[in-house]
Amino acid sequence: MNTTALVTGGAGFIGRHLVNDLLKSGVKVRVIDSGETGETERLPLDCELVVADIADLSINDWGDLLDDVDVVYHLAARKYNTPGVTEQSLLSANGYATLNLARVAAERCIRKLVYTSSLYAYGSIGPKAMSVSDVPNPITVYGSSKLFGEHVLKTKDFASQLNWAVARLFFVYGPGQFAEGGYKSVIFSNFERIAAGEQPLIRGDGNQTLDYIFVDDVVRGLRMLADHPENVLVNLGSGFGLKINTVIEKMVTVSGSQLVPVHVEPDWTAGTSRVASIDFTTSVLGWTPEVSFDKGLERVWNSRNRGVA
Ligand SMILES: NC(=O)c1ccc[n+]([C@@H]2O[C@H](COP(=O)([O-])OP(=O)(O)OC[C@H]3O[C@@H](n4cnc5c(N)ncnc54)[C@H](O)[C@@H]3O)[C@@H](O)[C@H]2O)c1
Repeated sequence: MNTTALVTGGAGFIGRHLVNDLLKSGVKVRVIDSGETGETERLPLDCELVVADIADLSINDWGDLLDDVDVVYHLAARKYNTPGVTEQSLLSANGYATLNLARVAAERCIRKLVYTSSLYAYGSIGPKAMSVSDVPNPITVYGSSKLFGEHVLKTKDFASQLNWAVARLFFVYGPGQFAEGGYKSVIFSNFERIAAGEQPLIRGDGNQTLDYIFVDDVVRGLRMLADHPENVLVNLGSGFGLKINTVIEKMVTVSGSQLVPVHVEPDWTAGTSRVASIDFTTSVLGWTPEVSFDKGLERVWNSRNRGVA
């Protein structure tokens, strides 16, 4: 296969898994990443790396990046609640850069632009599962920026030429995830604590409910979206809610530890439930998650210190 994919944010957690998967199937890969939360040094040597801030790119720069490109996976984004990220820098990376990319991708008739949006675009805190038929009502600047990115793909000026797909990702976990950065991964940070012999931490009563999806399932979903003939917007989540108490209990079991979790002060997630409805994803894409939470946790625990992805 002689196609080339551009992966923005390819040095990040999900990006590196996607890059490895593309390379394995013979796709040439170009990555653009500023390295601000990603790890460019962990990218495979056989991908082309451009280190730059997407917010600084001109239309011409995007044109150069899209030379010979068949599919764009647009993952680069500044995150909710990341130290040092201002609202302005978040909006210029997630909003303005996405607009410029979409414009050039439309001009070049790129086969597909796959955009990673977020559950934060919904703004919902439950209890109902989030469905793509819901009217989004983001309650954070990050969520608004992701929703803006989605809408930009449909902008009437170039929508007729742009082939796009949007995946609203839920809580993605897997080997190679960071404890710091935008998403303070409960799984990564508590496995670190358990490995260090420290009690895992649970905020509040631990009844807050999240939808965890393994990174390999997300990568498979993004690649299926790249090959989908229609412009579609789907959720990529497991479709099941897990209480944090259950997550931590399973982590303690997987690690073979005897540590007892400690409950600390609640935060805004108290009483929330953030779970995807994946009925539409399954019917339109034929995608369902393949990695069970127990298996996924085992893979994260066993990958520690092995430098996976
Ligand atoms: N991880 C999750 O649970 C989750 C959930 C919902 C949505 N998402 C979305 O998925 C995408 C990937 O997330 P991730 O978890 O891999 O995050 P990540 O932080 O690990 O990766 C993001 C990558 O983008 C790069 N980047 C950030 N701003 C940039 C800029 N201005 N210019 C160039 N590169 C820049 C970072 O250096 C990093 O390598 C993001 O768009 C995120 O909004 C992730």
